[in-house]
Amino acid sequence: MTKPKNDTLLRALLRQPVEYTPVWLMRQAGRYLSEYNETRARAGNFLALCKNPNFATEVTMQPLARFPLDAAILFSDILTIPDAMGLGLYFAEGEGPMFERPLREELEIRSLAVPDPDTHLRYVMDAVSQIRRTLDNQVPLIGFSGSPFTLACYMVEGRGGTDFRIIKTMLYQRPELLHHILEINAQAVTTYLNAQIEAGAQAVMIFDTWGGALSHAAYQEFSLHYIKQIVAGLKREQDGARIPSVVFTKGGGLWLESIANSGYDAVGLDWTIDIGEARRRVGDKVALQGNLDPSILFAEPTIIAAEVEKILVSFGHGNGHVFNLGHGISQFTPPENAAALVEAVHTLSRKFH
Ligand code: CP3
Repeated sequence: MTKPKNDTLLRALLRQPVEYTPVWLMRQAGRYLSEYNETRARAGNFLALCKNPNFATEVTMQPLARFPLDAAILFSDILTIPDAMGLGLYFAEGEGPMFERPLREELEIRSLAVPDPDTHLRYVMDAVSQIRRTLDNQVPLIGFSGSPFTLACYMVEGRGGTDFRIIKTMLYQRPELLHHILEINAQAVTTYLNAQIEAGAQAVMIFDTWGGALSHAAYQEFSLHYIKQIVAGLKREQDGARIPSVVFTKGGGLWLESIANSGYDAVGLDWTIDIGEARRRVGDKVALQGNLDPSILFAEPTIIAAEVEKILVSFGHGNGHVFNLGHGISQFTPPENAAALVEAVHTLSRKFH
């Protein structure tokens, strides 16, 4: 068992004692860092960056060179799975992700198959092992995937930024078709995350970015059900170390109790919920990860520190808090403000432990 020198994140996710609150940032490697933009230009485009383990390793390490973060996160994308399923992922400049062949026809849906992580997603596993070697056990590496429903949104709609008309029509008109997609996606995500764990991921996180767009009943049936199915199939241990799991449903505050009961070690929170109230609602079931509004990083360092303090006070004393943003860091964030955030969390949190 090779424990990272700084294993604060792993302990916090398992609600074990820590000396301070660990922090990492959703999308910590990205366009707000000039060195990321330079590497991306050298690679040619975003997908080329993801698909080349040397580049993926380089950009994974960039935020760690700038800030004393408590974790690295694999540089990749949730859409690698539908890409490996043959849907033809591409990124149009300024448009975000798009698919050449969105999934709409029954025949295509019925022939959807779980991609083999050792062939079509080999580049992800190679990136994971290369990042682990480069990290040299300084901090743990987080692996991740999208939730079955969030992946289905992109697969069926064919792009992001929609009103979910096509997928919700399918959900209400042909629920068995959507269930079939979700069933395959759940198997794909389970296999994919287990392969990441075998390649060296030391914690895993599910991003359910669009679960919050569902109605109360539909969330349980079409998103959370499959999120539960994944955790039941995940490897809990690798080389003698526990592999903590995190689930993040954006807009999931209303369903916090059922999310906390879904079998994960930790629940990610967006910024719309008070973390102290969330803690009271989940009790000691799970650790909580979050939940600073990423827009606070546009304000000055003194204001950032005050907002960090509010979250720390609200969570209160004790174990089970990983500090993070409530969603991804904006490309317009001044990097020095991200530095101020990390420093504020590290210094202000000590008195709570
Ligand atoms: O946190 C990290 O540093 C790891 C990297 C990471 C990326 N995408 C890199 C990325 C992670 C964890 C993701 C997850 C992801 N991808 C999600 C779930 C998290 C969330 O934000 O809700 C989703 C929905 C996607 C799909 C996706 N990929 C979208 C919608 C976009 C466009 C968004 C944008 O900001 O333009 C991407 C592209 C993407 N993925 C970028 C990065 C750094 C920007 C691409 C670029 O360099 O042009």
